[in-house]
Amino acid sequence: MCGIIGVIQEKGEVAPFIHQALKRLEYRGYDSVGVTTIDMDRLYSKKDKGKIDDVHRKLNLDDLPGRIGIGHTRWATHGIPSLFNSHPHFDCNNEVAVVHNGVIDNFLALREELLSKGHKFDSETDTEVIPHLIEDCIADGMSLKEAVKYVTKRIEGTYAVVAMCINEPDKIVVTRDGNPLVIGRKGSTSYVSSDIPAFLPMTNNMMLLLDGEIATLTLDGIEFEKLSDGSQVNRKTIKISWTADQAQKGGFPHFMLKEIHEQPEAIANTLRLPQEAIDKAAELILNADKTYFLAMGTSGHAALAGRHMFASLSGILPSLELASEFQDTVYGAINDTDLVVAITQSGETTDTIVAAKYAKKLGSKILAITNVVGSSITRLADHTIITQAGPEIGVAATKTFMVQLASLAQIALAAGHRSSFIDSEIISRKRESLGRLPDIVSSVIATQEANARRIAGEYYMHPSMLFLGRGISMATAYEGALKLKEIAYNHAEGYSAGESKHGPIALVEDGYPVIFVAPNDNTRSRLIGNIMEMKARGASIISVIEEEDTELEFLSNELFSIPHGVEPEFSIMPYIVPLQLFSYYMATRKGYDPDKPRNLAKSVTVL
Ligand code: AGP
Repeated sequence: MCGIIGVIQEKGEVAPFIHQALKRLEYRGYDSVGVTTIDMDRLYSKKDKGKIDDVHRKLNLDDLPGRIGIGHTRWATHGIPSLFNSHPHFDCNNEVAVVHNGVIDNFLALREELLSKGHKFDSETDTEVIPHLIEDCIADGMSLKEAVKYVTKRIEGTYAVVAMCINEPDKIVVTRDGNPLVIGRKGSTSYVSSDIPAFLPMTNNMMLLLDGEIATLTLDGIEFEKLSDGSQVNRKTIKISWTADQAQKGGFPHFMLKEIHEQPEAIANTLRLPQEAIDKAAELILNADKTYFLAMGTSGHAALAGRHMFASLSGILPSLELASEFQDTVYGAINDTDLVVAITQSGETTDTIVAAKYAKKLGSKILAITNVVGSSITRLADHTIITQAGPEIGVAATKTFMVQLASLAQIALAAGHRSSFIDSEIISRKRESLGRLPDIVSSVIATQEANARRIAGEYYMHPSMLFLGRGISMATAYEGALKLKEIAYNHAEGYSAGESKHGPIALVEDGYPVIFVAPNDNTRSRLIGNIMEMKARGASIISVIEEEDTELEFLSNELFSIPHGVEPEFSIMPYIVPLQLFSYYMATRKGYDPDKPRNLAKSVTVL
């Protein structure tokens, strides 16, 4: 939901770095882009609608003078993607420049107020009220920092704001409430950005800006202050383990494909999480009266699979709630004996954050599972599991999904062990099976990628497909369908195979593709019944099966096969891989960019 960058450096022009940083943030939004710099007491700007490469080809974003600048890549909320709605936005005199991520709820009232004072607006955005409010403050003699402080008192909603003005051409002022901003420093250069990969090639030392704080970036350093009482904040630097290489395509045509290939390593790294952290998470779940899993999208599918893992391995059946619906579902019926497990790779999804805040207000404890150190969810949580996927740039989640599953599996096993729900021999067998998953996933990628490309080549013209599974494979089916929908724009529905005959079967006619997730677990024989029902109506059956399952081979038109030796609770991890690859090759076969699916953004920071 919009990528923001601001840089101040001692020597050289900053625009080329801002351009490259925006490229690294493009997964956050890509319908328009803009850069503004300050040089010799004036603002220089280039912006337009379109993807960064297209706008750069047209305008040359590198060709702006100055050592200080800000940039923005947009995911539209208020106002269509257009030149005028692109950020940065300016005051009437073109002296103040602002980029913003978030939504200002009271912008219409503020806009009316400013229009009545004679301000002129160029855009339909909520953001544009900010530079005009700053303009008035500066006219009243305030500094840029005081002006931004005043703005925070006037605007309602969620925001990350980065501002600069020609009166103080040596500083960038930033503040946030509800949307992410991280700060970096290398030598005398200061960086601010929505996410770490923007400045990762320069430094992996970062500082968090928290909600309700303001920071001033200069060549001399960074000053943090609390907005509530103006007190100085001494912010620690956090060294993160991500490397710049991880945020590059590394020879792959797309980040998504690279990230699918990185899954074995991501699982292996996540399986090395400290056992104390896993045990503490298990303890929280064991001590809770009720446990609620909250998540959205792909993370919701990890939660659904996690629910199966917990039921089977620890005898606990957590409630699964869409975070966006939580408040309107529980009606306050949770309390301090309950636990909310918030699963969010970005740690910034507003639906999930708002739901977790609501639960916390009612006294519940919060366990967070996220991939991003210092993200908003970590600051709400009583305990956090940081998954080890490294940076994920592709908008469609793949390796972060895998590590959410690996973490949930470990916590479920720890809970089962601590409560003696299953005996230690079985626990050891399950742990060994979990430990083999990096190799199994690796072998699935090696053996199934060409197959996925070939099957995509056969089926890419089909506009609609069903993905069916039972038990934990329902989550695999949901995720397979979501991936296809997101990046190849097919109509795809993930359904419980049992439920499919209660409606979705009406879609099936001769040649209609139905994808069955069919591991050799206790759902297999009932799933075969569902395959027969679909075949009887002419469906073309694509199955993901355990290797050498000759019966299913016979019933299927196309196959993806997965090695033996996967415990049923973990089948989703290898079985989702061919479906990720299938979606990827469907998208590329249709000429779409899987890294930047239309209308989507990596982290959804609006309600
Ligand atoms: C996944 O491919 C999607 N981009 C989307 O559904 C995503 O999983 C969802 O927005 C939740 O994101 P989070 O894990 O960062 O909270």
